[in-house]
Amino acid sequence: MTKTDKNTDNVQLSDIASSSPSETTTTKSQVQRDTRKYIIICVIAIIVIIAVVVITVAVLLTKQKAKPIIPIVEVNGNTTWKQHGITVAGGNKSGNELNKLNGPRGFDLDDDLTLYIADEMNHRVVRWKVNASQGELIAGKDGKGNKRNQLETPTDVAIDKQNHSLIICDAGNSRILKVNHHNLVQEPTVILNTDCFSIMIDNNGYIYISETLSGGIKRWKEGQSDPEVIAGGNGPGNDLYHHMFPMYFFVDHNNDLVYVSDAYNHRVMKWLKNATKGIVVAGGYNNTNDLVYLLNVTTGIVVDNSNNIYVADRDNSRIMRFTEGSQVGKIVVSGKSVGSMVNQLKDPEDILFDREGNLYVVDCGNHRVQKFFIDKRH
Ligand SMILES: *[C@@H]1O[C@H](CO)[C@@H](O)[C@H](O)[C@H]1NC(C)=O
Ligand SMILES: *[C@@H]1O[C@H](CO)[C@@H](O)[C@H](O)[C@H]1NC(C)=O
Ligand SMILES: *[C@@H]1O[C@H](CO)[C@@H](O)[C@H](O)[C@H]1NC(C)=O
Ligand SMILES: *[C@@H]1O[C@H](CO)[C@@H](O)[C@H](O)[C@H]1NC(C)=O
Ligand SMILES: *[C@@H]1O[C@H](CO)[C@@H](O)[C@H](O)[C@H]1NC(C)=O
Ligand SMILES: *[C@@H]1O[C@H](CO)[C@@H](O)[C@H](O)[C@H]1NC(C)=O
Ligand SMILES: *[C@@H]1O[C@H](CO)[C@@H](O)[C@H](O)[C@H]1NC(C)=O
Repeated sequence: MTKTDKNTDNVQLSDIASSSPSETTTTKSQVQRDTRKYIIICVIAIIVIIAVVVITVAVLLTKQKAKPIIPIVEVNGNTTWKQHGITVAGGNKSGNELNKLNGPRGFDLDDDLTLYIADEMNHRVVRWKVNASQGELIAGKDGKGNKRNQLETPTDVAIDKQNHSLIICDAGNSRILKVNHHNLVQEPTVILNTDCFSIMIDNNGYIYISETLSGGIKRWKEGQSDPEVIAGGNGPGNDLYHHMFPMYFFVDHNNDLVYVSDAYNHRVMKWLKNATKGIVVAGGYNNTNDLVYLLNVTTGIVVDNSNNIYVADRDNSRIMRFTEGSQVGKIVVSGKSVGSMVNQLKDPEDILFDREGNLYVVDCGNHRVQKFFIDKRH
């Protein structure tokens, strides 16, 4: 579009330029008038070109800003991962030194692959840069408690890239904190008092949280009084209206869907916008309401662009994939019995992918975060 506009201007200019000399009976004033005309047209053309460039740049910038903060996962139903993971945080038994984690739960990944981890049993949030041998303390520097610089069993974090802050679910204190992770001198601020377990944020400033007891996934924005329920929220139970202690969820903005990892119903539920009940998309009960135990406590969840579901099958210590429409899951990593070897996990919690499709798993029972490199995209 931009190129066409510029070409049109050029054509007009050359037409005028070539037509001027062809006049045989030109007087001085005519030449002057033509020159003036020529200059005016030139100036207008330049203004038009500048306007086009400015508008193009503005459009490009807006487009970049509109990129979703919730990552678009470039993996599909055929992608495989190397089965030997590497440890990218913690990993040397549990402990409260900075090179250790103790019962890590939820996490988030920045664009430069820095990890932010809710180190639950250490009552702190830590940051691990790429290849770091130890973490840095981001929140909870005064230990366990409910003061501003304290946390109690934090369960998840989300990076708010637009506001350059880190949002923390301080579960034990039933509150959400905001901290400037680029300027640790600033004190964290409480932005909402609410039960929460895991947390996500979108590029419109909406914060999404799960509430384990009510079984609700809620949405809230600064300035709004109470969070609004977007899925479940009818208390515990095992029918399609209820969840049983849902910890992790995934919001699919492209399709207006919420996927809920319904932990103690051992299933994944999909909620369409405004739906009053969910749809079972993995695990759960059979026709006679017996638990099939395809999955045994579902935790971290991500859904890719082809609607394949990746879910941590915590008590089986493995990560599973359910391709769209299939109730039969496939093992993505681990599944070689519980353990702490490179191809094993113990009670995995949160999961996510980086932009290259490498898989990160909070390996809670081993007090570490594992990275599984993408193998084949197919
Ligand atoms: C996965 O592989 C199958 C068989 O090779 C192919 O038919 C299918 O299109 C692939 N799916 C994707 C999403 O690439
Ligand atoms: C594990 O931690 C102990 C004590 O903190 C330390 O002496 C040892 O070198 C560590 N091992 C590894 C493999 O990092
Ligand atoms: C991290 O370590 C790997 C392997 O040693 C290396 O290839 C990579 O460049 C390092 N990255 C950074 C950011 O230091
Ligand atoms: C981000 O900043 C904008 C503008 O200052 C504000 O309206 C919005 O509520 C902030 N979002 C969060 C999550 O703090
Ligand atoms: C969902 O509900 C809201 C408010 O009640 C309504 O404005 C919206 O159109 C509904 N969306 C769908 C897809 O039904
Ligand atoms: C599922 O349903 C069938 C009856 O259709 C029943 O025989 C079976 O035991 C049930 N339970 C499991 C765990 O498969
Ligand atoms: C589920 O996991 C628990 C805890 O590891 C175990 O006791 C139980 O037997 C498992 N159930 C099934 C059906 O695999």
